[in-house]
Amino acid sequence: LQRITVPRFASYKEKGKKLSMITAYDYAMGQLVDQAGVEGVLVGDSMSMVVQGHENTLPVTLDEMIYHAEMVGRAVQHALVVVDMPFPSYHLGVHKAIENAGRILKETRCQAVKLEGGADQAEVISALVKAGIPVMAHCGLRPQNVHQLGGYRVQRDEPALLHDARAAAEAGAFAMVLECIPSTTAKKITELIDIPTIGIGAGPDCDGQVLVLNDVLGLATDYVPRFVKSYANLGETITKAVRQYRDEVRGGEFPANEHEYE
Ligand code: KIV
Ligand code: NA
Repeated sequence: LQRITVPRFASYKEKGKKLSMITAYDYAMGQLVDQAGVEGVLVGDSMSMVVQGHENTLPVTLDEMIYHAEMVGRAVQHALVVVDMPFPSYHLGVHKAIENAGRILKETRCQAVKLEGGADQAEVISALVKAGIPVMAHCGLRPQNVHQLGGYRVQRDEPALLHDARAAAEAGAFAMVLECIPSTTAKKITELIDIPTIGIGAGPDCDGQVLVLNDVLGLATDYVPRFVKSYANLGETITKAVRQYRDEVRGGEFPANEHEYE
């Protein structure tokens, strides 16, 4: 199987082929999602919430993102691996942004970075791309802006979204996540720009879709947004398995003969 490079990923759009992308945060899950044949694996800063247990994506550090991106980068052989730049690693000037994104490419086997922004981040996107660092933009709902937004909600300012999308594409982004926007707006953006749009809560007309692995697997126990589809209920499976183990230890059924050494 041929490796999905940045140009190959981007070329799916003109070929009319849909892109599927999912998050992973460690070696084991990286291997499994890669074997499933997705085109993209995202080491998302959603890690802050689903792995680290924080209430938003702000606390995760660049060092922590790199540590987990190393694990995923070691595991994935086929898919394109993209790493989120955490807050505020790309807001400290162009020089710092290159230094921070450069660390991700130098210290992990991942191929691209993602950052939240459109028109406001055009300068940073263009500087990273000039430095040879492929950038996936992220427009619509920007979870790192949670305090400014006062919560996570659907973003409906269509002129602003169209402007953001155009600016990010012109700045040289190779693809763009569209999070939590009306499907009609996502469709317009997808028709407007030449780079693939990867939707999450952005309807069926995007060039691809992305979801958080824990949500897809049914591992999340707390709030699950409307745009999520769970394809398994691993949370229940895990609790059941561990409960049975606990019961068998208590009851003396485990370990049995076959688990013993003579
Ligand atoms: O951090 C993340 O997992 C993301 C995706 C949900 C787009 O940014
Ligand atoms: Na993210």
